Amino acid sequence: MKVCVIGGAGYIGSHAVLELVNDGHEVVVIDNLSTGTRDAVDEKARFYLGDITNEKQLFDIFSEETLLGRFDAVMHFAAKIVVPESVSHPLEYYHNNVEGVRIMLKTMVQHGIKNVIFSSTAAVYGDVKKDICTEDDELKPINPYGESKLASERLIHWVAQAYDMNYCIFRYFNVAGAHESLKIGLKRDNLTHIIPITVQTALKIRSSMVIFGDDYPTPDGTCIRDYIHVADLAFAHVLGMKYIVNENKSATINLGSSTGYSVKQVIDEVSQYFPVNYSIGPRREGDPAKLIASSERAKNLLGWTVKRTLKDIIKTDLDFRIKHETR
Ligand code: UFG
Repeated sequence: MKVCVIGGAGYIGSHAVLELVNDGHEVVVIDNLSTGTRDAVDEKARFYLGDITNEKQLFDIFSEETLLGRFDAVMHFAAKIVVPESVSHPLEYYHNNVEGVRIMLKTMVQHGIKNVIFSSTAAVYGDVKKDICTEDDELKPINPYGESKLASERLIHWVAQAYDMNYCIFRYFNVAGAHESLKIGLKRDNLTHIIPITVQTALKIRSSMVIFGDDYPTPDGTCIRDYIHVADLAFAHVLGMKYIVNENKSATINLGSSTGYSVKQVIDEVSQYFPVNYSIGPRREGDPAKLIASSERAKNLLGWTVKRTLKDIIKTDLDFRIKHETR
């Protein structure tokens, strides 16, 4: 298939590009390089420097590509994803994440493209009170990031209905790790996620780290999350694309492992390689005690399950940071 990957130079997008190329698809990447890098894009993909919120630019790129053959599907990774930043900059988040999706969908309609694969998030569920999240659970985001993704999900739903399109919406849980080739991984300033922070502390890039609360109602008192390796997550996009194109159907699907690990368990696992200097601090606002995906639908519809463990996630992130000496 011919696939357009918007945001294909970023952390998750570049992994999806690699999985698509390896599965034999023709891939075109559009990215504004705001967080991604050109060298993260596989050389078999065609690259355009472009911004999803620039309607004319997106229209022109799609028109140029359509002359060579229409896209079978468009994948969307071009979002802002930092929760605290979304709280301080909601206008930017709605502009980039929601307006960007509206422009993408309009451009797709103008060029007769029928299939869209969209990256959403477990943040659409909000402050979850249940242990395991299923896709039919109540959607009550508690920050602008989650709201912007939910608004995009609804927009996609209505546009797909009006213009006879198919969509695959993926709700990601805690994505981490790097590609086994160690060519691509998470490189960014001011990282906030637990796995890179713990690995950076182990590598002495940080002198210490803080566990945000150890008084949660969990076995060791620290929060439990569902960690998924970025390559497993990326491969699901290939399956999701084939599903909606071949079955002519739409779906909304969680991507997680159905297994949870606590913050302390993550630190223990990283400590197998190097000691991790940490202290216990107060709870971070908005953190649910436990968030685990039900992966039944991904298994039933796509035949997808995770292949990599927490150990693989940590080891690849560690090796990637050692190799690239990255912050
Ligand atoms: N944590 C610490 N110390 C740190 C960083 C994180 O103790 O220095 C804890 C957090 O308090 C939380 C856990 O580690 O309990 C995981 O936190 P992350 O920031 O790594 O990830 P979140 O679960 O908060 O959020 C991530 C994504 C969201 C997504 C969510 C879905 O950032 O976009 O996973 O599960 F919605």
